[in-house]
Amino acid sequence: MIPPTSVVRVDPMLPQEAGAVADLIRTIIAPLPYYNEQARHGEIAKHTATDLQRAIAGDPLSVAVARQDGRMVGFSVTRFDDFLIWIAWLGVLPDARRSGIARAILADIDRTASLRGCHKIWADSRTDNPAMAQLFPAAGYQRVATFERHWYGQDFFFWQKFVSGPERTACGSPGQAS
Ligand SMILES: CC(C)(COP(=O)(O)OP(=O)(O)OC[C@H]1O[C@@H](n2cnc3c(N)ncnc32)[C@H](O)[C@@H]1OP(=O)(O)O)[C@@H](O)C(=O)NCCC(=O)NCCS
Repeated sequence: MIPPTSVVRVDPMLPQEAGAVADLIRTIIAPLPYYNEQARHGEIAKHTATDLQRAIAGDPLSVAVARQDGRMVGFSVTRFDDFLIWIAWLGVLPDARRSGIARAILADIDRTASLRGCHKIWADSRTDNPAMAQLFPAAGYQRVATFERHWYGQDFFFWQKFVSGPERTACGSPGQAS
């Protein structure tokens, strides 16, 4: 049971934390019932320490770490995608769940999406992941599509949320060639 006074922080991952974050990601993804074996294997394989270090070298806000009373308990991996932010992954350790950590991670993604000049966040979740089907709308996301037999042959919901980003014309952002 998490004490109600616990302090949750979400910060960008530092390069020296990449090994610990890769371990955290593997611990969270490996037992997930919503993904088939091919998906679990593929998703763990693309989040090694080297991959995470490469990601933050390109975008220092792309990997975030949640800590509860100083202990690393959750993460997000996001990608800048033509002025959208794509949530590639987020997760929380099983023994730290239902204490608001994912909510804090999503609030951090709202903040860093705006910092990165983005006006929208988009994401997917497995159709049989009840936690995300509640969490995303509770955090202001709208369900916009269902893709059947999609990645790894599995079904996914797609979600979007508008955040306060810069105004932009249909031809691209000010000063950006399109
Ligand atoms: C989904 C996940 C990230 C939620 O993390 P969490 O820290 O437990 O979530 P929070 O405590 O911030 O919950 C916020 C809200 O989300 C919803 N929620 C969270 N877990 C839920 C669950 N198991 N069932 C139903 N609703 C849930 C609730 O509305 C909750 O609010 P409440 O606790 O006041 O009822 C976590 O269960 C997890 O890591 N799951 C495995 C990885 C995963 O599925 N990642 C998403 C891939 S798209």
